[in-house]
Amino acid sequence: MAEILVLYYSRHGSTAAMARLIARGIEEVPGMQARLRTVPEVSPVSEATEESIPAEGAPYVELADLKECAGLALGSPTRFGNMASPLKYFLDTTSPLWLSGSLIGKPAAVFTSTSSLHGGQESTLLSMMLPLLHHGMLISGLPYSETDLLHTDGGGTPYGASHHGGPDNSRPLSEAEHRLCIALGRRLAETARALGGNING
Ligand SMILES: Cc1cc2nc3c(=O)[nH]c(=O)nc-3n(C[C@H](O)[C@H](O)[C@H](O)COP(=O)(O)O)c2cc1C
Repeated sequence: MAEILVLYYSRHGSTAAMARLIARGIEEVPGMQARLRTVPEVSPVSEATEESIPAEGAPYVELADLKECAGLALGSPTRFGNMASPLKYFLDTTSPLWLSGSLIGKPAAVFTSTSSLHGGQESTLLSMMLPLLHHGMLISGLPYSETDLLHTDGGGTPYGASHHGGPDNSRPLSEAEHRLCIALGRRLAETARALGGNING
């Protein structure tokens, strides 16, 4: 079994729900498995460190997860049109992998959740691609053969999966958003499989 890392941060659960659907899409592809991981909160007071295992939900990510997996789905809620700092904080610790070229040639995809429809989904998705391009990853989006992209009135972009959670983040994923998350996971896993699994791990 080759594994795809689904790495996300989620404060209120929307991005976590997307991560689980992307994992489902990954596991629709024979021989492919999802590894769900999250990141701890960051705080302006950084003298204390988090417990190494969270009280609930996915385990915290380690550099070895990135190294061992054949691909990466990276998800964050939109924060002022950008990814959330806990995820960026973790990415800033990945220079050993950059130095060793461990992620070069591995496929990656991105996903996000916003409270407002035009609140920066695309800019957040693009911002998450930048460090992955520096790592030499092969970025994969969603093609318009996913016809939901032509009709969605919520989330769903060619840059990756997205969700419009509404002002109080209470909107559940729409059927189209749901299908597009699964499609993204499936596409990522199919690409990783076509590339022959983990090429650098
Ligand atoms: C500091 C902060 C900044 C935010 N910036 C945006 C934004 O630029 N655009 C937007 O639509 N929503 C913004 N939001 C709302 C979250 O992106 C939204 O509620 C998201 O669905 C939460 O995802 P989660 O349930 O995975 O935590 C912001 C929230 C916080 C706390």
